[in-house]
Amino acid sequence: MDPTASIRERAAQLRAEIESHNFRYYVLDQPAVPDAEYDRLMHELADLEQQYPGLVVPDSPTQRVGGQAAPQFAQVRHNLPMLSLDNAFADADVVAFDRRIHERLGRDDAITYSAEPKLDGVAISLRYEKGVLVQAATRGDGTVGEDVTHTVRTIRSVPLRLRAAAVAPLIEVRGEIYMSREGFEALNARARASGEKTFANPRNAAAGSLRQLDPQLAAARPLALYAYGFGQMDKGELPPSQSAGLALLRSLGLRVNPLCEVVRGLAGCLEYYVRMATRRAQLPYDIDGVVYKVDDCELQTELGFVARAPRWAIARKFPAEEVLTVVEGVEFQVGRTGAITPVARLKPVPVGGVTVSNATVHNFDELRRKDIRPGDTVIVRRAGDVIPEIVAVVPERRPAVSRAVEPPVQCPVCGSDVIRQEGQVVARCSGGLVCPAQRKQALRHFASRRAMDIDGLGEKLIDQLVDAGLVKNAADIYRLQADQLLDMERMGEKSAVKLVAAIARSRNTSLGRFLFALGIPEVGEATAATLAGHFGQLESLSEASEEELQGVADIGPATAAAVRTFFAQAHNRDVIGDLRRLGVSWPDGAGEPARVGHGRFAGKTLVVTGTLAHMTREAAQARIRAMGGKTADSVSSRTSYLVCGEKPGSKLKRARDLGVPVLTEEEFLALINGGGMQ
Ligand code: IVH
Repeated sequence: MDPTASIRERAAQLRAEIESHNFRYYVLDQPAVPDAEYDRLMHELADLEQQYPGLVVPDSPTQRVGGQAAPQFAQVRHNLPMLSLDNAFADADVVAFDRRIHERLGRDDAITYSAEPKLDGVAISLRYEKGVLVQAATRGDGTVGEDVTHTVRTIRSVPLRLRAAAVAPLIEVRGEIYMSREGFEALNARARASGEKTFANPRNAAAGSLRQLDPQLAAARPLALYAYGFGQMDKGELPPSQSAGLALLRSLGLRVNPLCEVVRGLAGCLEYYVRMATRRAQLPYDIDGVVYKVDDCELQTELGFVARAPRWAIARKFPAEEVLTVVEGVEFQVGRTGAITPVARLKPVPVGGVTVSNATVHNFDELRRKDIRPGDTVIVRRAGDVIPEIVAVVPERRPAVSRAVEPPVQCPVCGSDVIRQEGQVVARCSGGLVCPAQRKQALRHFASRRAMDIDGLGEKLIDQLVDAGLVKNAADIYRLQADQLLDMERMGEKSAVKLVAAIARSRNTSLGRFLFALGIPEVGEATAATLAGHFGQLESLSEASEEELQGVADIGPATAAAVRTFFAQAHNRDVIGDLRRLGVSWPDGAGEPARVGHGRFAGKTLVVTGTLAHMTREAAQARIRAMGGKTADSVSSRTSYLVCGEKPGSKLKRARDLGVPVLTEEEFLALINGGGMQ
């Protein structure tokens, strides 16, 4: 069926509107409509095009993705070669460049230059015929490149149609396709998570993405364009200067780097370099230098070319951000939560302006994948203010004898076992309370409100007590005297006495709270309560095997393993022993609930309703069952208790009508944490 004139008109209108939003969003960075409105327009257009395939035109915004996968990359001959640039590595090279220009032109007044950031991406040539993008090609050897139209079409900042009303029959735009650092990190993080190959740097990621055969996959890569010049172009259209060319590119709807400037003379060039070098680290994308171009096109023509580079331009490169150095050793650092990270100690080397002597390796998997060994020569990269990282080992330079680094089985700080849960990339020290690396964190947790609830023992004070050597583990808290506290910052006599009293009060706790306070990996508040309810006594829990632990409702293999490992550490048992000797105690569970096979709720049926603040309804039900009770979904005369959270609804009314006792969440928590039950 042929579309009517009004449908054609609507499609054209939608295309124009969407392109204008694309321009505002991707080129100007000033979106005019919310995403939802944009999506609505896209949907409407896609629907129309599906209904009337005759409406589909190659520059329709719907055609960015979904083109055919390129069977292989066709070769594209550049009618006007894509040149490269001479490099300058020091001020002296720029001085010589400016002098040569003066000599050739026979002038002694200051030359005007266009100064531009040198994007570290992939050079691209975009061919627009009658304003419509028909081909995108890489530089290749400068004369013949690869056809990457199918992937370039997916890049939102590449207009499928130029904006100016009267565009020349042929315009070739030259520029750089790049990937932002953020996009690169995210892409690599995704690749790492799914065990795929990561890219060494944003430039490689951009190049790899452009050569991606599947445009759907390419579309998911965060690529962008900055245009910096023209290739082949119809006569009469040529701008008089490089800076006018950049302005023309902008007016055609192309993205031009906002840091491009017109500078005067050598002094202007050198000063621009310093400014860009300072800003470089904060830029969201990589630049590897700056480019100076004689601004006036007539002068450019007069200067001409040498070999493959113009005489009128030069690239002043920044000092390398990737260098080679030697790994002196691989050590393992323990973070505040016990996470163990490999760190490569490097022979100090300057990279991008700073001396680097360490590089973090994300985790054990990455250490194994990159196979970094002491004695290896490695490529080290420092991008902006990012922590230096090892890009790769240079295999040819590996010493004849070298040994792979084995991840530690014991924590390098405290000697506790290192555990790595199945399916997790992070390995952790199991030392918990005794590992100095984790001490402050563990103590903060121990004293916190939902754990031992020691009022007044906050983060700052814990830091001071640990730094002063007064508190090494949780038991030391119960050894503190008021006069010792007085030496701490901002601690008066009154608050010292108050704190000692709060510490003393916290001795009376519940088994659930105590277990939670221990900070056993995988054991949150709900799990601690479940374990307390099931075992009733610390002794039976600490001696339970993994199988026994897994037999408890809601305890999975990871938690069972973590509990077992924790209690298997002698120093954890020592601290617990000290805590008990220092008076930390809890009501002995209802007799020995685990052994008699009934918990505190044995023989009772409870219904949970409303929203609980401290746990989900399911977690509450699990705890009831773990403590020997039954749970039901509706209130009846056989219901023993209704546990009632916020916004309870009809169950509360029914319980009241039937005379079923109602527990608030606090009362319920008190019960499961060791309080009695009538
Ligand atoms: S001008 C004749 N301008 O650097 C002019 N190039 O080594 C040739 N590049 O292949 C290029 N930013 O990929 C120019 N503002 C800029 C640039 C730039 C990055 C890249 C481009 C080129 C390489 C030359």
